[in-house]
Amino acid sequence: MYAERVTPSFRHRHLLGIEGLTPDEISFLLDLSESYVELNRQAEKKNPVLRGRTLINLFFETSTRTRTSFELAGKRLGADTINMSVQTSAIKKGETLIDTAMTLNAMHPDVLVVRHPESGAVKLLADHVNCAVINAGDGSHEHPTQALLDALTIRRRRGRLEGLIVAICGDILHSRVARSNILLLTRMGARVRLVAPPTLLPSAVEAFGVEVHHDMRTGLADCDIVMMLRLQIERMQGTYVPSTREYFHFFGLDDEKLKVAKADARVMHPGPMNRGIEIDSALADDITRSVILEQVEFGVAVRQACLEALSHGHPELGPKL
Ligand code: NCD
Repeated sequence: MYAERVTPSFRHRHLLGIEGLTPDEISFLLDLSESYVELNRQAEKKNPVLRGRTLINLFFETSTRTRTSFELAGKRLGADTINMSVQTSAIKKGETLIDTAMTLNAMHPDVLVVRHPESGAVKLLADHVNCAVINAGDGSHEHPTQALLDALTIRRRRGRLEGLIVAICGDILHSRVARSNILLLTRMGARVRLVAPPTLLPSAVEAFGVEVHHDMRTGLADCDIVMMLRLQIERMQGTYVPSTREYFHFFGLDDEKLKVAKADARVMHPGPMNRGIEIDSALADDITRSVILEQVEFGVAVRQACLEALSHGHPELGPKL
């Protein structure tokens, strides 16, 4: 007798982080994303599973690709999608986060996609609304859809995640992208190395089940994927690096440093990039090594998959399955 393969269901009300997702749920989201990658390459891109629903992008921090890709994802799923940014909201007039949440909630949105500079703020907001909430980045805590799109990019290139060596390099201390990626990749059986100066690493980071390197030569040796992170100057109070010139010398990725990685290793960056600070400009544009624009492409598909999957946990949100 063969055991029947049960399709993992996705019954979460919100997507607040990779924490709380099982490997099966992560695989389910990645598999669902694959179908949207194909659909997004067609002339007709609509799959109106959220027709008649309302999605609000609520961004308390600037964003280009995340906000745009959620907007496209919502529209391609048939939802009415609007963008609210802090510049045009009542926040500037002193309204609290909870007031904003309750005000928007009164308008019956079906999904709120929220980015906020404080870790934990998106969860707090989710506790005060009836609709589904997706975390589009909260402080240095989590950015789950970025980790999912990174995983999809890696899986499409390498065919798997398990057993791969992934080096995450740079400003790990301030990075929600790093945190969500560490959780996802270790959960899926990849070997994660963090490569950074001690000043840019959180304390006790080994507890996450990662290897720590302070030298790009050992950190990148034989790795499959090199994921570069932006130096997040806006989150730094005080001096974390001597100068951006010196930082590039020791931790900036260029052809020379990449030589120790596997010959077919791929370079990633979530964007926005500081060219010449954490990554050499020509290398970032070299499509034989860099998959940075694939990450952007797959970001839309992953967000469509997450929106569709959340509708499974909200019978009122999507068509009943
Ligand atoms: C990241 C973010 O905002 O956390 N960008 C993104 O979502 N593509 C990384 C960053 O800002 O450096």
